[in-house]
Order: sequence, then structure tokens, then C-alpha cells
Amino acid sequence: MEADSRMSHSERKILVTNALPYANGPIHIGHLLGYIQADIWVRFQKLRGNECHYMCADDAHGTPIMLKAQQLGITPEQMIGDMQKSHEDDFAGFNIGFDHYYSTHSEENRELAETIYTRLDKAGHIKTEVIEQLYDPQKEMFLPDRFVKGECPDCGADDQYGDNCDVCGATYAPTDLKNPRSVVSGATPEMRQSEHYFFDLPAFGDMLKSWTRSGSLQSEMANKLNEWFEQGLQRWDISRDAPYFGFKIPGTENKYFYVWLDAPIGYMSSFKNYCDTTGKAVWDDYWQADSQAEVYHFIGKDIIYFHSLFWPAMLKGADFRQPTNVWAHGFITVNGTKMSKSKGTFIKARTYLDHLNPEYLRYYFAAKLTSRIDDLDLNLTDFAQRVNSDLVGKVINIASRCAGFISKKFDGRLSSDIADATLLEDFQQAGTQIAEYYEQREFAKAMRDIMALADRANQYIADKEPWQLIKQPDHENEVHDICSLGINLFRLLMIYLTPVVPELSKSVQNFLNDSFSWDSHRSALTNHPINKFKALMQRVEMDNINAMLEASKEQQQDQASVAPAVANDELKKEPLAEQISFDEFAKVDLRVALIANAEHVEGADKLLKLTLDLGGEQRQVFAGIKSAYAPEKLIGQLTVMVANLAPRKMRFGMSEGMVLAAGPGKDEIYILNPHDGAKPGMRVM
Ligand code: MSP
Ligand code: ZN
Repeated sequence: MEADSRMSHSERKILVTNALPYANGPIHIGHLLGYIQADIWVRFQKLRGNECHYMCADDAHGTPIMLKAQQLGITPEQMIGDMQKSHEDDFAGFNIGFDHYYSTHSEENRELAETIYTRLDKAGHIKTEVIEQLYDPQKEMFLPDRFVKGECPDCGADDQYGDNCDVCGATYAPTDLKNPRSVVSGATPEMRQSEHYFFDLPAFGDMLKSWTRSGSLQSEMANKLNEWFEQGLQRWDISRDAPYFGFKIPGTENKYFYVWLDAPIGYMSSFKNYCDTTGKAVWDDYWQADSQAEVYHFIGKDIIYFHSLFWPAMLKGADFRQPTNVWAHGFITVNGTKMSKSKGTFIKARTYLDHLNPEYLRYYFAAKLTSRIDDLDLNLTDFAQRVNSDLVGKVINIASRCAGFISKKFDGRLSSDIADATLLEDFQQAGTQIAEYYEQREFAKAMRDIMALADRANQYIADKEPWQLIKQPDHENEVHDICSLGINLFRLLMIYLTPVVPELSKSVQNFLNDSFSWDSHRSALTNHPINKFKALMQRVEMDNINAMLEASKEQQQDQASVAPAVANDELKKEPLAEQISFDEFAKVDLRVALIANAEHVEGADKLLKLTLDLGGEQRQVFAGIKSAYAPEKLIGQLTVMVANLAPRKMRFGMSEGMVLAAGPGKDEIYILNPHDGAKPGMRVM
């Protein structure tokens, strides 16, 4: 049974885009959030059997790109060609599976931009007006706001851009700047007149308002739009004077389309080129006014205005369909602050790939993404812990605990029987809710459910203790069944994780001799040969993260003032102990314990006597935490204990284990608390 009836029909036709990156700089991890979010959603749709096409392209036009190419002494065409190649490599490195990657500097885009403009013009939606603008007489070009600097008209601060002041926050027109100068040549700009072309956005007010009230927009987006409606919609300046790198406006001599006019048309033209060259879809089916296909644009919050006002209005005015929805995401911060070159947190996609596995980042983003527009912090310490504890410690651990027995004792073949049908069914039924979460872009909720299942699978294996059973000859079949179920539970988790970690999923499919679709979760592998288990994913090492931050730091003249990496500081306060092997670590049996009772010990000045409940079994433990905790505060709390520590005879009695706590000692001691939902007796790993 599916909650959403659209989902059960395989004839859904979906076109997905993510905002097109500018062709004048490398991809960084901020960019990646949107591309990965959309990619996960697209992979989910494909896994479900829907027809889904993921389009992208480089956004190749505009003044900054023209000037950058001049600086480099190459043609803009050459620069955008090189840049596109490097963007495509970066995206491929993160397993972002575009079905097509193109450029806005293409014939298809020129034709479509001309078509849309001409239709808008015929319908009376284009107006002209002569405006005054700052002009660089030396460079012989009009100057965009960001290319004029001068003194703030409000506070007098020097070296401020033409649109707003970094010092006092004032916003103004570039013509208000005192002592203005051109950033391009240093010349003093002068006022010049020029005729500009405007798109009549206000004419689409009613249409946009009804779109806003359709109920399907993100609530934050609908609120933003309502604010803009209240301020009143303005005509949009869509022309720029030569010299400009872009498309000439039909019927003019020296006017070009402003880059933002033809950029979103790039979504259509990339798809056009894809349809024409591969024949995998029919362009008209997706873009004609009465199209039944779904079209979604994933974008960052900074470009909502373009996508939710100009773009639907342009499409409407030119008699094309409007997007089904526009989904905005927030911005990435690193270690709590804006990405910074001096801190090394302005991390390029390539630098990341030189040091870390791309699927770590995909998982981390998924674990934190919601359908809302909130910013998302990439805290690198949390990143390492999260990936290590969830992907490696929980999910992969299930396979590594079970696979050895299957290959060594049972000839690499899974049992014909399901040891615990209810457990398997629970895992299968969870798929409906997880699918729903993916569909709604509630990836964090999907990951939370998947990890809760992983906990149950680990608990099952811990309870059954196949490594003990195997020592008893008449229990071989049981071990076979337990480990086969473990592998099947692992398989279901990996089906559910496939959109997020496609490469890991591929290795798992090889290991299992299986090929996943979403529906694979309805079945189980019985009497089925599997391959030898190989390590599927390495743990995240802080060393690699620190090396990445180091490599991201731009060479600064003033090296001494560069702040050391945050993650570095956090982990290096205490020297770390000597390395141990995983097997050594695995000997420590950590368990969630309920503090059933706590009391003072007659004659002891550091110790409290705790009664710990492991979900049935009770232990008496003496813990040196008296200076930090009043006993009554502890009763009823959950904590973590070493459950297989040999009992020790102490002056006040036997201590049968140890509770875990952090801190330098004295009155600064913090017992560890598992998250809500943990149950006494659960294994901690
Ligand atoms: N070229 C325009 C988009 C045209 S779409 C028709 C553009 N390019 S961009 O390179 O500046 O940004 C590309 C995408 O990355 C945008 O969705 C933008 O919001 C997103 N991000 C850029 N920096 C980001 C973060 N720090 N965090 C999250 N997303 C960010 O805008
Ligand atoms: Zn100012």
C-alpha cells in the first residue's frame, strides 16, 4: 500500500534541474548541497521506476565571465569550455548522476531565448526606457553595481561596492557613491544614457499570486513572495549594452540579453539537446503549456526571486508550462561560520575529493537535510563522528558481523529459512514511510528511520550471539539462520540507502549478487549465494579532514594570523592514546544502562554506589562521581557502561562493571547519556 497514489504509478514523468553554476569559478562544497539534494531525489525516483531526467549546464554568460577571460588572456569560449570540463569532473566525483550537462552558451539556448523574448514582445510584455548608468570611459563599457567602488554616501567608509556598504550596511545606487571609480580600469566613471529593455513583471501579479496560494510551495517561500507582492512588483531590466558576453537581442544592434534572462532557459535547452541527441524523451511533452509531466527546480535561497517570480512569469507570457514546483535549500556554513578562505573552510569540491570519500558528504548532507530552507552547518567533527557511527559503525557493521560465518561455515550460501519473520517484515514495512520521506525531501527523517532499523539489526545479532553459538556443534543451523537474517536486514538498509550512497550500494549489490530496485525490499534472499565480504568503507579520519583544511587555506602573506582549524583544536586537547585494532576494541562490550538506584557510600569520599539495570540483569558498580552528582539526580537516567569488565573487589564491595564519563575530573565529570529511544541493555558501538 502506498500513501501517495502518484507514487504507485510507474508512468510518472519527471524533469529535475538544479541551479546552473557560473562558469567563472570552481565548484565548492556550498554548491554541492543543492546538486546532492537533487541527485538523491532523482536517484530515489529512478529506483522507484519513474521516468526521471536530471538536467544541468554551466551558466556561461555575463560581465564577470567576460572580464575574467580577458584577465586570463583567453577567449570567453575557451574559458567556459575549460570550466565546464572541470565542473563535470567535480560533479562526477561526487556521484552526481546528471542525465545531461550542457552550457547556456549553445545554439539551442540562443534559439529558445529568442523564441521566448519574441513571444513576450508580441504579447506586449516588453517595454523600453532610456536610463542613466555609470560608464567607464577608458574601458568603454557600462559598469554593473559590483564593478564600481567608492566612499559610502552614509558613513564615508572607503572602498565600498556600488550597491551596499560593508561597514554601515546602507544600501544605495552606484550613482550615490562619493569619489566613484571603476573596478575594471580605475577610471572615474561618468553618467551616460542608454535605452534598456524591460520585462513587464507587474502584468503577471495575479498569476503569480494564485501560484503562491496553490498550497504546494514551501511555506518560507510563500511568505517571501507575499512580502515581495506587498512591496509591489517592478519591471525587470533584461538588456545590457555591448560589450557583453551573451546573446544579442533580436532586432537590436548592440543590446544583449542580461545573463539571468537566458540562464533559466538553460534548463529547457539542456533538455532540448538531450532529447535531440539521445531520443530518451520528447521535449514538447515536458514544456508545452498543457504538459502533464512534472518539472522541479532545486535552487539555493539566494536565487528565489529569479525562479519564483521572473521565471514562471516568462514561461506563462511565452505560452510554455510553469514549473510544478521550485524547491529552495539553505546555505552551507562550515564549523558554524560562513566558508572562509583564511580558515581553510572554503573547500573546493576537488580538494575534498583529494582527501575524503564523496559518499561521506552525501550521507552527512542527507542526515541533515529537511524540506525547509534552513541553513545547514557542516561541522567537521560532527561529520566524522556521524559518518563513522552511522554508516560504518551501524550499517556496515551488520554485514561484517555476519558475512564471515556465511562464507567460512556455510559455503557462502544464505539459509533457506528466515529466522525471525516478524523482524524481517518490520524492516520491509518501514520502506513505505521511508519512501514517503524521500518523496517529501525529508531526508533527515529517512536517515533517522534507517539508522533506528540498523540499531535493531545490531541488537538482534548481539542478543543471538552467533559467535558463542558457533562453539556448540549442534547449533550450526541456528547460526546459519541468524547470520542469513542479519545479511537480509543489511540488504534492506542498503536498498533504502541507495539514493544517498550509490557507490557503496553498488559494492553491496556485488557482494550480495543482487541488483536493487526500490521494490527489492519486498523480497528476501534465501538459499542464495553471496560473495566474500570485503571492507566496504573506511572510517573518516580526522587527519584527512585536517589535511583537507590545510590544503584549502589560501597562501596568505600573513600566515601567523591564520586561525588554526577548529576541528584540530577540538580533538587535540588531550593527547590521544596508542592505536588499537578493531578487534581489540570489539572486545569491550558497551551497553546502555538504566541507573535504577544511586546512593552515598559510608566512608567513601569519591564514590557513589550505583545499581545499573541492563534490561533485566542488574549490576552493582562503584563510580567515582560523587563530587559531580547528587545521587538523587542520577536515578532514572540512562548511561553507558562497560558490561564485560571483570568484577573487582573494592573496599566497599564488588564492582561489576564501569560507567563511562567525560571530563578532566574533580567536579567536572559528565556521565554519558545516550539519546532518547535507547533502551537498557542495547549494545553501544
Ligand atoms: N548561475 C546562477 C544560477 C542560475 S540558475 C538558472 C548561480 N550560480 S552559482 O554558481 O552562484 O550558484 C549555484 C547554486 O549553488 C545556487 O543554487 C546557489 O544558491 C548555490 N550555492 C552557492 N553557494 C552556496 C552555499 N554556500 N550553500 C548552499 N548553496 C550555495 O547562482
Ligand atoms: Zn557606510
